[in-house]
Amino acid sequence: MAKPSSVFVCTSCGSQTRQFFGRCSGCGSWNTLVEQKAAPAADNRRRRPVVEAAELAGQPRRSEPIQAVGERPLQRLSSGYGELDRVLGGGLVPGSLVLVGGDPGIGKSTLLLQSACSMAGRASVLYVSAEESAQQVKLRWHRLAQNTQADPRGDADGEAFGDPGAGADFQLLAETDLELVLQELEALRPAVAIIDSIQALHDAELGSAPGSVAQVRDCAAALARIAKRQDTALLLVGHVTKEGALAGPKVLEHLVDAVLTFEGDRFASHRLLRAVKNRFGATHELGVFEMRDRGLAEVTNPSELFLGGDEPSAGTATIVACEGTRPLVVELQALVSTTSYASPRRSATGIAANRLHQILAVLEKHLGLPLSRFDCYLAVAGGLEVEEPAADLGVAAAVVASYRDLTLPPGTVLVGELGLGGQLRPVGQLELRLQEAARLGFTRAVVPRGSGLAKAAAGLGLQLLEAGGVAEALVAALGVNPADDRA
Ligand code: TYD
Ligand code: MG
Repeated sequence: MAKPSSVFVCTSCGSQTRQFFGRCSGCGSWNTLVEQKAAPAADNRRRRPVVEAAELAGQPRRSEPIQAVGERPLQRLSSGYGELDRVLGGGLVPGSLVLVGGDPGIGKSTLLLQSACSMAGRASVLYVSAEESAQQVKLRWHRLAQNTQADPRGDADGEAFGDPGAGADFQLLAETDLELVLQELEALRPAVAIIDSIQALHDAELGSAPGSVAQVRDCAAALARIAKRQDTALLLVGHVTKEGALAGPKVLEHLVDAVLTFEGDRFASHRLLRAVKNRFGATHELGVFEMRDRGLAEVTNPSELFLGGDEPSAGTATIVACEGTRPLVVELQALVSTTSYASPRRSATGIAANRLHQILAVLEKHLGLPLSRFDCYLAVAGGLEVEEPAADLGVAAAVVASYRDLTLPPGTVLVGELGLGGQLRPVGQLELRLQEAARLGFTRAVVPRGSGLAKAAAGLGLQLLEAGGVAEALVAALGVNPADDRA
């Protein structure tokens, strides 16, 4: 018998070579090749690793006019958590594959166990725990359920742990062998199956270790085939690498219908769920949860989480960021102080450092503020990451307010992108942002000129201050001209 030889597989694109290279010849990424035992010859394999799309969906293999293609109304199954449903695009679609990734300990298992329990009252659920023993899962389940009983407030908040009760169809399987998991899936034909995690599953036919590229790809393809055939919605937990990308080959992300990432600050209790890919809904939707001692609770009003204290202080400004269709009122804090270093320090938390540098340069040039002689620190409250350029004006206002030791009038929000020439550029979804600000009791909004929202703002009880450039906007916001040296 021929000695099983090794191949080198790229963890990023999945391409294979016989020889080791520092750089993948398939996708060009560096240091992504890992050694693997070659798979046994194809003829003694039970399953075909490559699944044809048509076969997957159980559809005829002939082409037909698009008008003739039968339509099936999308029947979505609610996960029991509005925040999760929103990110999924309105609920779980039968037969869909959803990959949930996130750092270890962020709460992936907790989230899926909670929604499994909630769904089990309405549909049959199979929970496959490949990482934890059945006892461990049971313990967690008890903890989640007991804590709700101990604290009745949980019910009032609408964040109750969805205890499935006696009649629920909730099956637990603690198993790592793919073959047994597939058998169980075929026998039970559940409406929803949860695999925690795909990296811990193991196909005994492949020589490589669990979690390796070949294993992950093979297990996911086999599960996908069964799920599509019997219309089971599959939720797969995936690990992330040190860099934060989903571990395993990119083909895994191509295979699934939706990729959700669960993220959060290690030091904060809130968790953010985002869709980075979704065949059944919009991406960039955001779900917000909070990790409590009784599991994850939904945060239906996240703006309150990202607002600082009630008292406005010098160097803070409030913006309305938009995550997908979801507006978030967020507080920014800046600290500008005379530098004692040769080159001043700049530090930005929650905002790209480049963006801060650019805004400082614009302020220096167009307002004549000597910021290059000052250290500048900027932070987004609540540990949120704001990527949108719409935050620019808020950053500029916070920096100038800190530099001049001014406090913005209470109830002011700022929205606008700064151009390099100091002009204010319009931003998307402005009306939505203004509605959210008004809902939270803000009374003034500084926005780019030409929004056409004067009437809408008046209806919301907001004073709309439109400005064409950064200097004009800051005068409107602060009530004094920051470019004037203090008298
Ligand atoms: P877990 O769901 O096991 O994370 P993952 O599956 O993503 O690795 O979450 C574990 C963390 O959550 C752990 O550090 C403890 C914390 N936790 C709570 O704070 N409250 C709870 O009720 C539960 C179940 C977990
Ligand atoms: Mg886990």
